[in-house]
Amino acid sequence: MELARFLHGSPDSRTAGTTIAHGRGYEALSTAFFLGRRRAVFTRLARLSGARPGDRVLDVGCGTGYLTRAVAEAVTGSGSVLGIDPSGDAVAHARRLAAGLANCTFADGIAEDLDAEDGTYDVVVTSLVIHHLPEQVHERAVAEMMRVLRPGGRVLVADFRPPSGRIARHLVGAVTGPAMEHNPVHLLEPLVRRAGFGQVVAGDLPWIRYVQGMKPEHAR
Ligand SMILES: C[S@@+](CC[C@H](N)C(=O)[O-])C[C@H]1O[C@@H](n2cnc3c(N)ncnc32)[C@H](O)[C@@H]1O
Repeated sequence: MELARFLHGSPDSRTAGTTIAHGRGYEALSTAFFLGRRRAVFTRLARLSGARPGDRVLDVGCGTGYLTRAVAEAVTGSGSVLGIDPSGDAVAHARRLAAGLANCTFADGIAEDLDAEDGTYDVVVTSLVIHHLPEQVHERAVAEMMRVLRPGGRVLVADFRPPSGRIARHLVGAVTGPAMEHNPVHLLEPLVRRAGFGQVVAGDLPWIRYVQGMKPEHAR
């Protein structure tokens, strides 16, 4: 059995996604997993999100809030970032880690049914979450991101990119499980395009595939 399984929460009736049971444990594993590059990778993701001072941002499946906090720096005190996650323990840990950051808040929530009015946000980000959702939910989750963005708003969808080498991939599988070992990240870009986003650009960072998109100005 893979090492990370002990972090998984019990089934949540609201979602078929795999939730995180232990915020502190996830934080430690994630820090170790990025081999000293976590800060650099997530600072890059925050920049790639296009979030600017004053923006309202939503981080979907925020976990312990690493990206939420990185984006909070980008939007400065005049903007705000809300991180949502169905895991109560992850949200509680995220709140502890963000204590003192007034523009960074956290709440319970699920990707497939976002608790926000249409057009609320300037930017929506999500990292390492799509592989936690069953495939049949992916389109619904990205459609929800589109719905809560204002026209001209930006999305950044990032997920784990398995290494190309067989041994390294097996190692990833042994530590984290099959969802990451075989993560079909090449499907992220078509997923974002199908949702109706424009200006779609995909790229790679260490361990990560990301896709940027913009909600068309004429979209409602
Ligand atoms: C691998 S963690 C990523 C956490 C964080 N975004 C990061 O980059 O470190 C995946 C997160 O997705 C959350 N999750 C699972 N099902 C979800 C759903 N239906 N909606 C939103 N988040 C979900 C889990 O609870 C977990 O915190």
